[in-house]
Amino acid sequence: MKSKIIVGLILAVFGFNTITAQNMSEMDKKIEKILSQLTLEEKVAMCHAQSKFSSPGVPRLGIPEIWMSDGPHGVRGEINWDNWGYANWTNDSITAFPALTALAATFNPELSYQYGVAVGEEARYRRKDVLLGPGVNIYRTPLNGRNFEYMGEDPLLASVMVVPYIKGVQENGVAACVKHYALNNQEEWRGHINVNVSDRALHEIYLPAFKAAVEEGKVWSIMGAYNKFRGQHCCHNEILLNKILKEDWNFDGTVITDWGGAHDTREAALYGLDIEMGTWTNGLTSSVDLMYENYFLAKPFLKMLQSGEIDESVVDDKARRILRLMLRTNMNMSRSTGRMNNQEHHDVARAVAAEGIVMLKNNDEFFPIDPEKQLTIAVIGENATRRMTVGGGSSELKAQYEISPLEGIKARFQKARILHAMGYASGPSAYGREIPSKYDAELLRNEAVETAKNADVVLYFGGLNKNHFQDCEGGDRKSYELPFEQNELLDALAAVNKNIGVVLISGNAVEMPWLENIKGLMQAWYLGSDAGYAIADVISGDKNPSGKLPFTFPVKLEDNAAHYFGELSYPGDSIDQYYKEGTLVGYRWHETKNIEPQFAFGYGLSYTSFDLSDINTDKKSYETGDKIVLSCSVKNRGEKDGSEVVQVYVGKPGSKVERAVKELKGFTKVELKSGSSETVGIDIDVKNLAYYNTEKADWEVEKGEYILYVGNASNQISKKLKIRID
Ligand code: BGC
Repeated sequence: MKSKIIVGLILAVFGFNTITAQNMSEMDKKIEKILSQLTLEEKVAMCHAQSKFSSPGVPRLGIPEIWMSDGPHGVRGEINWDNWGYANWTNDSITAFPALTALAATFNPELSYQYGVAVGEEARYRRKDVLLGPGVNIYRTPLNGRNFEYMGEDPLLASVMVVPYIKGVQENGVAACVKHYALNNQEEWRGHINVNVSDRALHEIYLPAFKAAVEEGKVWSIMGAYNKFRGQHCCHNEILLNKILKEDWNFDGTVITDWGGAHDTREAALYGLDIEMGTWTNGLTSSVDLMYENYFLAKPFLKMLQSGEIDESVVDDKARRILRLMLRTNMNMSRSTGRMNNQEHHDVARAVAAEGIVMLKNNDEFFPIDPEKQLTIAVIGENATRRMTVGGGSSELKAQYEISPLEGIKARFQKARILHAMGYASGPSAYGREIPSKYDAELLRNEAVETAKNADVVLYFGGLNKNHFQDCEGGDRKSYELPFEQNELLDALAAVNKNIGVVLISGNAVEMPWLENIKGLMQAWYLGSDAGYAIADVISGDKNPSGKLPFTFPVKLEDNAAHYFGELSYPGDSIDQYYKEGTLVGYRWHETKNIEPQFAFGYGLSYTSFDLSDINTDKKSYETGDKIVLSCSVKNRGEKDGSEVVQVYVGKPGSKVERAVKELKGFTKVELKSGSSETVGIDIDVKNLAYYNTEKADWEVEKGEYILYVGNASNQISKKLKIRID
């Protein structure tokens, strides 16, 4: 009500109906009208934070403050005005949605839209104007502590999945803020590492999802990254922000720093930044209460404007962008009020969680486990009970509830006798440091082995968690193997009970020396409020798994391209790093160099099986402006209903530049009843087969022969087709 009155006043004060220039949009006219009434000081004030998560409005004119919140898996608990403590409100518990890796693994853009709508509604109900997410940094190394917040290793998959999320959020009059633009692909030295990457890899691998977010998703804000690119911090970067984002992609929204990502007033003013947010009150390293005036885009900026060193048009451009963000969000009188913790949101969270689970191994039909049988099930592992909405850094959530895997199993397997042992212990969650567990590791292991001995079935819930040096912001994993001696524990369990299945809860690939000794394996990510229910849905067979891996699981770390090239490639020498693998990231590397992965990008099993047949294109040769129309008949030849993802990869043999053998260019998910079949169509614009020509600084479609690989994983191809581009 209050906000309606305020906005009503603004409308009255500025007389928005007055037509000032014929060729301006209504919104631009409003912006100009407001801008003309602002003092220089007021414009500068809008360009920087006034608290940890807000930037000021213009009180005398009734222009509201902008309120932001992390993102991306739910709306974060309220944080104090000036420090990072939680404000301990009692009305800020929310629905926790699955991590973006799980969302990406669904390969289902419709679910991404539903996720966006739901999380946007919660943000709106919590009075937020900007939701800090989603993240689309590319999965380059399995050690990156923040991979769980991103959408995998493939630019097309991330692009297709990010667009509906943004649209869903923004339908609520809440801005999505796509992050971290760009090349923040590791946490080690994230604040200063200078990323050296070829223009081709930049444009072909690392930028497409951001570009899709801007051009197709029409995202209203974007967050700069902490790291440097070509010697300049990404939060004020001439190439990334001025040239690519604002000029080439015509981004009309607001660039927000990552917290404390600004380092210089002149650069911040001139190289594309609009709003400076911070971790400390001076922007960088220390805090004095309410000293946001020390920010780079505060007093120092004002001084440079007053002295004429920087032209007023610079701050006008920022103010226009910020006003545009406001007119789309907190000055949009018709936006909804949002809602929170409602059944529909829980249903979306559970649906994404169940559909994101990827079944990786299923010998002897270990899964599904029949809930009607009177089995003794030993549930082992700390992740069976650990809360995973807590920890991980800024994406931490205050969930209204979180169903653990053990609770989910108990609820669904009521006829079974459920035994439980922790098996290992990781220590409590603490940001930026590791606290060892107080438990005796040997005692826990022995207890778990004893428990496993007496069971019909062992279900092991392990993996990583949200502690520092695991799946957590601010640090990378220290090694590829499972932590807390889980490998030894798994060996010991498998030695006493052969009927063992593993559910990995992690946002990253891990080494699996025990893989041969276990029967079943599921990748279950961080699944949010209904995690345990969703896991039980799949284990019981109530839901047929249909998730596909959004990134490759290499056998060993050196098989991953970033690591193959040694320390200068990852993590760098603390000042610079070089992406020596170029465009050959993830499966592109494995497929091109013939390195067998443990599990391939796009791979995932089902309780049924599918045949892909009658795979054809509408023509054999195309021109640059054409669309390739591919059709494929998919048959569910098992006894269970299920879904399959048809994937089309394209390669250009004999290309004049180094190219991956195959790259994902289209996919579609199809749901099929047992025994039924359907013909699906996948369209690929020929222009999307282009590579980035560095000399021309433009995309170029090479003429000649191409190969289309159609299958259900990057390494499982049912048919190859040749086409020509003339
Ligand atoms: C993170 C951002 C986050 C921000 C605010 C930063 O440290 O990198 O992703 O949105 O903090 O919490």
